[in-house]
Amino acid sequence: MKALIEKIQKLKSQKDAVILVHNYQKKEIQDIADILGDSLDLSRKAKGTSNPMIIFCGVRFMAETAKILSPDKKVLLPVFDAGCPMADMVTANDILDYKKEHPDVFVVSYVNTSAEVKAVSDICCTSANAVQIVKNIKARKILFVPDKNLGDFVKRRVPEKEIQLWDGYCIVHVRINKEHLKKMKKEHPEALVLVHPECESQIIELADEVTSTNGMVKFVKDSEKTEFIIATEEGMIDRLKKEAPDKIFYPASKPTLCRNMKKTGLEDVLRSFTCEQYEINLPDPIIRNAQAALNRMLEYSK
Ligand code: 13P
Ligand code: SF4
Repeated sequence: MKALIEKIQKLKSQKDAVILVHNYQKKEIQDIADILGDSLDLSRKAKGTSNPMIIFCGVRFMAETAKILSPDKKVLLPVFDAGCPMADMVTANDILDYKKEHPDVFVVSYVNTSAEVKAVSDICCTSANAVQIVKNIKARKILFVPDKNLGDFVKRRVPEKEIQLWDGYCIVHVRINKEHLKKMKKEHPEALVLVHPECESQIIELADEVTSTNGMVKFVKDSEKTEFIIATEEGMIDRLKKEAPDKIFYPASKPTLCRNMKKTGLEDVLRSFTCEQYEINLPDPIIRNAQAALNRMLEYSK
């Protein structure tokens, strides 16, 4: 493993690349990250970095987001089929059809969508800024795609808006089991419950804090408490242990593994550097239109 990491580091400096890693990636991948974070943080940093090459260890929509925000850079996704099943639950044609029926609707798309969907959306959001974005936009009639659970979370917090929810969901977060979470709470009465807003409302109701993955890191570091029950993808516990090694974390429920997030290994990263694959290429009009929706998000959530 040490030799593999050394090869990666050498190629990284030869190619002047930066390695962006999502919080759900395997521990060995988190350990080689230049930037480790949630979707919002990684979008901001992808835009901000000056390196000409980005290796994105995450899933396809994240690498596409980096390409849209930095079209002149070479963006590589180490595993070709690391996708997000929730992102595939809505297409650009679905949105165009909906807009034909409801011409005055404002489309807010979660960043977990394809570049084509972003290109026909009015604004994007992430789990970290969804409530803020929906509160800040002027439009009252909103279509929120694709995550009905995040959309429902937003809807409850911004009741003044008329929000239509798409029927998408994260196949990982909906597996988090309420009875198991209740049992964990009983077994660890001192622990605070941190829940990702992709979870169903029955899980969100049991939370002490509902937040994005970076929000969880901040919450744990700022808290005087030492025990936490974590309701999200299980890789998050590696990330939290890295940041707060003296604190104790329990998974809210098992299994909560995102198969796609776990496809990337060190060998894939090395191959990605040597063969410069898999490069993200998107048509210019898609980049232009998707960029407008993403830049609007960054502008509204400063
Ligand atoms: P965040 O890390 O932005 O909270 O999102 C979680 C997620 O599901 C990414 O796929
Ligand atoms: Fe997609 Fe859910 Fe995996 Fe995130 S955790 S990449 S939303 S399937």
